Amino acid sequence: MAAAEQIEIRRLAGSELDGALDGLAAVLHDCVAGGASVSYLEPFSHEQARSVFEDFAAEVEQGRRLIVAAFAAGELIGTVQVILALPPNQPHRAEIAKLLVHRSARRRGIAQLLMERAEAEARAEGKTLLVLDTVTGDSAERLYERLGWTRVGVIPGCALYPDRRPCDTTIFWKAL
Ligand SMILES: CC(C)(COP(=O)(O)OP(=O)(O)OC[C@H]1O[C@@H](n2cnc3c(N)ncnc32)[C@H](O)[C@@H]1OP(=O)(O)O)[C@@H](O)C(=O)NCCC(=O)NCCS
Repeated sequence: MAAAEQIEIRRLAGSELDGALDGLAAVLHDCVAGGASVSYLEPFSHEQARSVFEDFAAEVEQGRRLIVAAFAAGELIGTVQVILALPPNQPHRAEIAKLLVHRSARRRGIAQLLMERAEAEARAEGKTLLVLDTVTGDSAERLYERLGWTRVGVIPGCALYPDRRPCDTTIFWKAL
């Protein structure tokens, strides 16, 4: 990667997270517009995406979730989250969610950098087991396999694409 394309990965909280809400929303909006199955259906506006991240930011402030973001030349180009707050009998476990890279920044290794940092942050929070689910047969599934995640299996028709077509979901886990 050229020096001019240097990527910075940061865990966001407080005023920096507040200032990043529009950038985070822009990435989520772009991913949904690109057809990614990440909870939301079309039509999905920038304002709706911002409201989603305002709710996530409230959970970050409560210590229930953490958000990591990737920046290139100061611009937010990708993000991932770790859900820390799980039931009392799973204090050692966390979930990875909302791994999103703007379409203009894909295939440069950003998602891999985000995942490596998310795993490190989870470990630093005392977590020893991670779980995630993702669309079956997609770029993300190959990424998790490359990063040493174990594939549990596929749930057919588990979710919908933004245009309401059904999609299969693959479940993964990784011990830290
Ligand atoms: C899945 C997603 C996060 C991947 O982001 P990304 O930054 O493009 O991921 P990476 O660059 O780490 O890897 C993607 C591909 O680029 C390749 N790549 C990485 N660096 C590269 C480089 N410098 N040059 C060329 N190719 C490269 C990887 O080998 C990988 O190839 P593959 O798809 O054939 O396995 C992105 O496509 C996305 O946001 N999708 C929509 C949302 C989604 O589905 N999220 C996951 C479920 S929550």
